[in-house]
Amino acid sequence: MRAVVPHCTIDGPSGVGKGTAAKWLARELGWHLLDSGAMYRVAGIAAIDAGVPVEAPAEVAGLVRTMDVRFDGGIDDDRIVLEGREISGRVRDEAAGMLASRIAVFPEVREALLDAQRAFLRPPGLVADGRDMGSVVFPEAPLKVFLDASAEERAHRRCRQLWEAGKQATMADVLADIRSRDARDRGRAVAPLAPAPDAVEIDTTDLDVASVCRRILGLVRERGLA
Ligand code: DC
Repeated sequence: MRAVVPHCTIDGPSGVGKGTAAKWLARELGWHLLDSGAMYRVAGIAAIDAGVPVEAPAEVAGLVRTMDVRFDGGIDDDRIVLEGREISGRVRDEAAGMLASRIAVFPEVREALLDAQRAFLRPPGLVADGRDMGSVVFPEAPLKVFLDASAEERAHRRCRQLWEAGKQATMADVLADIRSRDARDRGRAVAPLAPAPDAVEIDTTDLDVASVCRRILGLVRERGLA
């Protein structure tokens, strides 16, 4: 099944816009969407709620394997329900992002999330966004994209998003958060953030979202995936 269902992975660092691009592409193609970062965020929240210390990898991994999480909404309505409680707002918080980045360094936790991520690969196709979608989770993906941009540009984008959502944020705080998350994501021993050898790398620093989306859609078509 995995070899024949068309799929495209979009990896890259925090705030690069891969979530926006992945959502747009999935909508455009009518494919499923996997926001793998949300899975790590939910896992962190599940640990906190269950009183499991986030620095105890085996316990967090055990919890991840048994947690009851549902991604109920469609592409435009990311409703996430954990153990019967809606946690969508908490999942999007910067605090959940930092928590996710902390538990994501543990191989046991990454392993525990693999099956749940791979289960998203179903007809008619999948767009998967994250850090290791092309390198680890879907190594046979027929199209792998790696987006990058300077930390400053990513902090600008993230700030704009937060302000538009009515949240308070300063450039200095957001930039510091992005830098510390980068260091952890790129520096971890297992599945560090890095382009897969066969990924198409796109530097988006001077590109707007629409150009990035068009470029990826062009690659999907060039490869005969849609
Ligand atoms: O994409 P995001 O900001 O929602 O991800 C939150 C954290 O989860 C990120 O700092 C690293 C981790 N993550 C990961 O290690 N691997 C993934 N495939 C997705 C996210």
